[in-house]
Amino acid sequence: MTARSIRKAIILAGGHGNRLFPATRALSKQLLNVHDKPMIYYPLSVLMNMDVRDIQIIVNASDAENFRRLLGDGGQIGLNITYRSEEEPRGIANAFIIGKDFIGSESVALILGDNVFCGISVLETASTQFSGGATTFGVRVNDAGEYGVAEIGAGGRVLSIEEKPQNPKSNIAVTGLYLYDANVVEIAASLKPSARGELEITDVNRAYLDRGQLHLHLLGGDTTWFDTGTAESMARAGNYIASLEKSTGHKVGCLEEIAYNRGFITEREFRELADLMPTCEYRDYLLRRL
Ligand code: G1P
Repeated sequence: MTARSIRKAIILAGGHGNRLFPATRALSKQLLNVHDKPMIYYPLSVLMNMDVRDIQIIVNASDAENFRRLLGDGGQIGLNITYRSEEEPRGIANAFIIGKDFIGSESVALILGDNVFCGISVLETASTQFSGGATTFGVRVNDAGEYGVAEIGAGGRVLSIEEKPQNPKSNIAVTGLYLYDANVVEIAASLKPSARGELEITDVNRAYLDRGQLHLHLLGGDTTWFDTGTAESMARAGNYIASLEKSTGHKVGCLEEIAYNRGFITEREFRELADLMPTCEYRDYLLRRL
């Protein structure tokens, strides 16, 4: 199999965010702050650290303007960001139906707009090593039944994968970052909605499992993962990031800094970005990087 590194990605930032109501009456969940920056900065930073610069963000039609105001076309941080609107959330796998033309015949990453990863070098490695099929990332948790759950056997081989099972076969949650070859478009198009009426990402993964092409990287202690879909998990993620940033002096998910460090933008462009910001802690942090 030839190596096909990932150059394109979709961020799914739609959904009703019902579990965060009433804040989500007026604002998309993924624009709410997790500690010191909007939630979407975190998944976007994961993609940038994977060297992915061509990104499509799927949003609710009513939120599109706010996302544009925040991130624009991404050119200021060396990215090419396009937006697609979803009228009604139809499930995570619908991202590949909406993103069909964007994906074309290339491999693609999908990351959920509420997934926060800290300590991500393993994700970068996995994406550069991607060579087709599907790659998922697992984390051991106490409440696996809240997520997609993977059962693994000898040599880390995936034996089964289930969506929010009542009796989880393992404590391994499948996180919301997925790498797929271009077959994902045709697989998603062939799915039937689940009992809850959604095109399930777990059904996409099961299709790859049936083809013997589903890989799972079990993330170890150097990576911390949060699904920030509830007030409680948002607060936990926020507290974790606040204490990490305080003790290391380094921000997690600072887009301008990553763009500069990775050479997506020049020092001059970086300084111009900081100059355009109001006086604030975030700007002071950027200026200290120079
Ligand atoms: C979704 C997926 C689930 C996955 C989780 C990761 O669940 O359906 O398989 O484990 O994201 O964040 P949701 O957060 O939409 O309930």
